[in-house]
Amino acid sequence: MEKIIITIDGWSSCGKSTLAKQLAKRLGYVYIDSGAMYRAITLYFLRNHVDWRDEDEVHAALQDITIEFHYNKNTKQSDIFLNAEDVEYLIRDLIVAEKVSEVAAIKEVRQFAVRRQQQMGKKKGIVMDGRDIGTTVFPKAELKFFMTADISVRVERRFKEMYEKNPNVTIEEVKNNLEMRDYIDSHREVSPLRKAEDAIELDNTHLTMEEQLNFALNFLKEKV
Ligand code: DC
Repeated sequence: MEKIIITIDGWSSCGKSTLAKQLAKRLGYVYIDSGAMYRAITLYFLRNHVDWRDEDEVHAALQDITIEFHYNKNTKQSDIFLNAEDVEYLIRDLIVAEKVSEVAAIKEVRQFAVRRQQQMGKKKGIVMDGRDIGTTVFPKAELKFFMTADISVRVERRFKEMYEKNPNVTIEEVKNNLEMRDYIDSHREVSPLRKAEDAIELDNTHLTMEEQLNFALNFLKEKV
């Protein structure tokens, strides 16, 4: 069966990675979490006190960053490695989430990430989620989804996820972070979050995981 590229864009915490993983598993495709790349770059900047308002500092820092994805046998998913260190867990921290949208709005950071994302899609057979995958990274992808869900549902889902790792996190912190990221991600100059014209909209506010997968599989049948 001919392999295709599937892109999943949408607002923060609306289940993009869940759907991407479901589809990748079903099809035997590679799943790439593009947001993890921006998070790993942000982690590097924070750790190394890079002033990301300074273009020269950003340029120099990016020369020292290597990002790779390696399959984790235990979780059966790919972990992200920043300069050979597995940072899959660390990048989910609120400290990173609070700064990632600012870092992801920087033109050179985006060029750096997009180049790698496009390389990963060369052989097709890939599901990638993010904010600009169907518009900028793979504008010719065969199948594109744009996901939305009510903000209250998104906050609840993300809160549950973060609370498991850090019981000190509050629902207000999570809500503020989601709203701030949605605003910055959709208002930045370079590749803002928007629905590609040919993307299929999926609102999963009232859908179970199984229903969401079935919704996507119906469109997939037409393409593969
Ligand atoms: O998907 P996520 O929440 O892990 O993404 C973290 C941030 O990275 C998100 O707030 C915006 C940015 N991002 C982006 O600008 N472009 C992408 N393709 C993916 C993520």
